[in-house]
Amino acid sequence: MENIKAYVQEHKDRFINELIELLKIPSVSADTAYSHDVFETADAVKASLEKAGCDFVEICDTPGYPIVYGEKIIDPSLPTVLVYGHYDVQPPDPLELWTSPPFEPVIKKTDIHPEGAIFARGACDDKGQMYMHVKALEYMVQSNTLPCNVKFMIEGEEEIGSKSLSWFVERNQEKLKNDVILISDTGMISNQQPSITTGLRGLSYVEVEVTGPNRDLHSGLYGGAVANPINVLAKMIASLHDENNHITIPGFYDNVEELSLEERAEMAKAPFNLENYKKAIDLNDVYGESGYVTNERNSIRPTLDVNGIWGGYTGEGAKTVIASKAFAKISMRLVPNQDWEHITELFTKHFTSIAPAGVTVLVKPHHGGQGYVTPIDSIGYKAANMAYTETFGVPAIPVRSGGSIPIVALFEKELKSKTILMGFGLDSDAIHSPNEHFGIFNYLKGIETIPLFYKYFVELSK
Ligand code: BES
Ligand code: MN
Ligand code: MN
Repeated sequence: MENIKAYVQEHKDRFINELIELLKIPSVSADTAYSHDVFETADAVKASLEKAGCDFVEICDTPGYPIVYGEKIIDPSLPTVLVYGHYDVQPPDPLELWTSPPFEPVIKKTDIHPEGAIFARGACDDKGQMYMHVKALEYMVQSNTLPCNVKFMIEGEEEIGSKSLSWFVERNQEKLKNDVILISDTGMISNQQPSITTGLRGLSYVEVEVTGPNRDLHSGLYGGAVANPINVLAKMIASLHDENNHITIPGFYDNVEELSLEERAEMAKAPFNLENYKKAIDLNDVYGESGYVTNERNSIRPTLDVNGIWGGYTGEGAKTVIASKAFAKISMRLVPNQDWEHITELFTKHFTSIAPAGVTVLVKPHHGGQGYVTPIDSIGYKAANMAYTETFGVPAIPVRSGGSIPIVALFEKELKSKTILMGFGLDSDAIHSPNEHFGIFNYLKGIETIPLFYKYFVELSK
């Protein structure tokens, strides 16, 4: 495998340029205005898998956006790695905060990425990280070092809840049969300290609508005499946390697993600097649930956050009005054992019950998914750790992430296999934010590390 370093050095400009071409297609799954581009991106992914050396690649139509499936089966008696990734991206707004247009990728240097980083929507989440696997396959095929079978399943709806993928997985258990699932759609601690994600949070996402009068009213004529839906919504939302920032929905914490002091002490060993954390996002202090530190609040504890809130007049100047309706989008991040559908029910029941007379409340569930935790004594985890240790010179640290990839729990249920989350992004890469980027170092290091995972996974499987 010494040759992988040389291969990456020799081909790195092409690797970067190919990724840049993929990033130019605005595959925003949330907005139907981009629908044509999402389909085009699936075609581009298919072509890249064919070029990299898959024997069979197909576009699988679904009720939504297609899934790109590819495989190279060298010997059915050898293990099979299933690579999952997503080619859809988040909407790029607010556009005015980008320093260069989101779908015109450019390489810029940053403090954290002195070798440069590719700036574009999807650079890290997840086109860049997904494409590392395509290039790793190219290397293994070219150098005749692919030690096992490989299947690729790249979807186009991850950012909107993976509905079609669930549909697809349920119908294709035999085709997707594997010994381990490998995903690069998470992060690591830093470019000096790799980590392997051992947990993901679940998610319940809902939209709420509060309706007062049947039309917008003059706020002088009616103000004080009728319920103002925006005032009421703000009050209802505020009541969802108590003074310790615990969530007040009855039953919400029932299935939350409390970690032992030993486990929490183990977590606290991961390098973390609170001052740098605050500085990176310009905060004078952190905020959260009493009794837990930052690294616990955003990984092993469930949360409730308003993602958007609107209603009434928000245009220029002032308009004196009591709006007929107010709205909010609310997400709850869940921990393993909390069932997202049950939590959605608890939320709905509670939120409806706290509505005062004078308004009506509607809760619309959006999507959700279960959380995930994975043990660190599996062959897959060990193989990933050996791979990182070899390319970074230090072992990886297990870390539970606050983000969600709901499909991972479904993979375990439907395909009965464990997922290894080998992420190469950094928290500072601004995924879902303006100026998303992915370090060139990270991209190339990923391409270098992935073939080692295959090598060690096959060795340990013997
Ligand atoms: N890749 C992210 C999830 C992620 C990022 C996990 C970093 C851990 C570390 C994924 O694309 C994502 O954004 N997931 C959504 C959930 C989905 C159902 C919309 C999320 O976490 O908000
Ligand atoms: Mn992602
Ligand atoms: Mn994402």
